[in-house]
Amino acid sequence: ALRKTYDFVLQETNFTRLCSTKSMLTVNGKFPGPTIKARKGDTIFVNVHNQGNYGVTIHWHGVNQPRNPWSDGPENVTQCPIKPGTKFTYEVIFSAEEGTLWWHAHSDWTRLSVHGAIIILPGPGKSYPFPKPFKQETIVLGSWYKQDVPEMLTNVLKGVIPNVSDAYTINGQPGDLYNCSNDSTYRLKVKFGKTYLLRIINAVMNEENFFGIANHTLTVVGQDGAYIKPITTDYILITPGQTMDVLFTANQNLSHYYMAASPFFDSVVAFDNTTTTAIVQYYDGKYTPPPTPFFPNLPFYNDINAAINFTNRVKSLATDAYPANVPKNITTQLFITVALNRILCPNNSCLSPTGDGPLDNKQSSSLNNVSFATPQVSILDAYYRGLSNVFVGDFPSQPPNFYNFTGDVSGVSLFTESGTKARFINYGEAVEIVFQGSNLQFAETHPLHLHGYSFFVVGTGFGNFNNETDPLSYNLVDPPELNTVNVPRSGWVAIRFFANNPGVWFMHCHLERHATWGMDTVLIVRNGQSEDQKIRPPPANMPSCS
Ligand code: C2O
Ligand code: CU
Repeated sequence: ALRKTYDFVLQETNFTRLCSTKSMLTVNGKFPGPTIKARKGDTIFVNVHNQGNYGVTIHWHGVNQPRNPWSDGPENVTQCPIKPGTKFTYEVIFSAEEGTLWWHAHSDWTRLSVHGAIIILPGPGKSYPFPKPFKQETIVLGSWYKQDVPEMLTNVLKGVIPNVSDAYTINGQPGDLYNCSNDSTYRLKVKFGKTYLLRIINAVMNEENFFGIANHTLTVVGQDGAYIKPITTDYILITPGQTMDVLFTANQNLSHYYMAASPFFDSVVAFDNTTTTAIVQYYDGKYTPPPTPFFPNLPFYNDINAAINFTNRVKSLATDAYPANVPKNITTQLFITVALNRILCPNNSCLSPTGDGPLDNKQSSSLNNVSFATPQVSILDAYYRGLSNVFVGDFPSQPPNFYNFTGDVSGVSLFTESGTKARFINYGEAVEIVFQGSNLQFAETHPLHLHGYSFFVVGTGFGNFNNETDPLSYNLVDPPELNTVNVPRSGWVAIRFFANNPGVWFMHCHLERHATWGMDTVLIVRNGQSEDQKIRPPPANMPSCS
């Protein structure tokens, strides 16, 4: 296996979009940042040189990092930030994943501008489980805010509902439907009759997305760094954090067609309801301008059935070459409510949701009614060295009180408690987690992401999870293997995995404002008996926490 080195220089860079210019943190001056390309089995080293103005960490989203949480990245969970003027080398181990993943900053909202693609090709001598495409292209969906990240973060932390983004982007460009954007719209040049592989990454901050290409059928062949049974469809639903490998054949007659991404957002709070586009342009087709441009027909923004109909079609390959090792006899079960709450603020120190006055409570979110409080130093470091004052290992295995989660919640307290709580799991346990959505404040779909693992999504449904009947319809044969899964609005989802990767692993909603408000927790998988079942020792150059 290869050992490659990359250099990532974090630096402030000026960008102009929508006729306004701002400085933002980038890697090597690029937005989106550079692509990492590896083969399954490779290990890469990424030297991150921080030449910006504040501390940052980088996370390798969807890379399991066996026994190596030291290089996983979430700030003050597995490491302290890389301070300005210093560097840290991440060791990224591609053991099990194949397809598309991504990397992003894991320090507050910095991932807005600090992210890029990871392409993991089949191992040496191996090929794709689908016909080799003529070419491949990375499609990164992103958000554009005219506001600066530090300013936004200050507001979100005070509990102010943040501004919605001013645009979505495809490979950094908003596209023809926005002001001042036509000149730079991203173009994918194709040849008639050829098949292309799109590696689609959702790096959007606060909404999920539908995506499609006008007049072209998509065939989805991979998700979250694992292959799936091919699905043909006119649109995909992709949540922040997810990645999809999509084939399409250039088989149309006109000169160009739009690809587009629009929001999927099924709640009552403000969101960005605009559409980003890019152009699929036929190389050698004669220029035949269409009478009206061809846009894909994407579902309406709150069409939860369209979202779920697509999601429910995803199945893992489950062949001899790509087996689905689904846990059958569960030894550790967690039932976790996912909710939007309020939390008390000392002496009117918070602002109202619109930011115009003091309030004694603020917007919050929680898992099992615990709103995660990020510590000042690294939880992994504290766990490894046995320090006792950084976190408590009492994250509950079920909610403190059972109410009609998805029914009438008008009598239920909105308030949650803040705490830095983790859940210990013994090495080798067969784990099931049921995430239960809650209607507190308002119901919303949440993309939950787990670090350190891919998991099987064995079941999902609307309403309250029923422990007697719902497991009867679980798919234990070919469930999708993901790292980010939707807990549907007013519904539940069940995931399973073997706890075979010791470490300290963050788990959180991948909508940034929910994560900031506390919809996070930490799973600590203990060491096993043998040496190859234990966390590796820390590298010598971990960023200091003082
Ligand atoms: Cu993509 Cu914890 O993140
Ligand atoms: Cu959420």
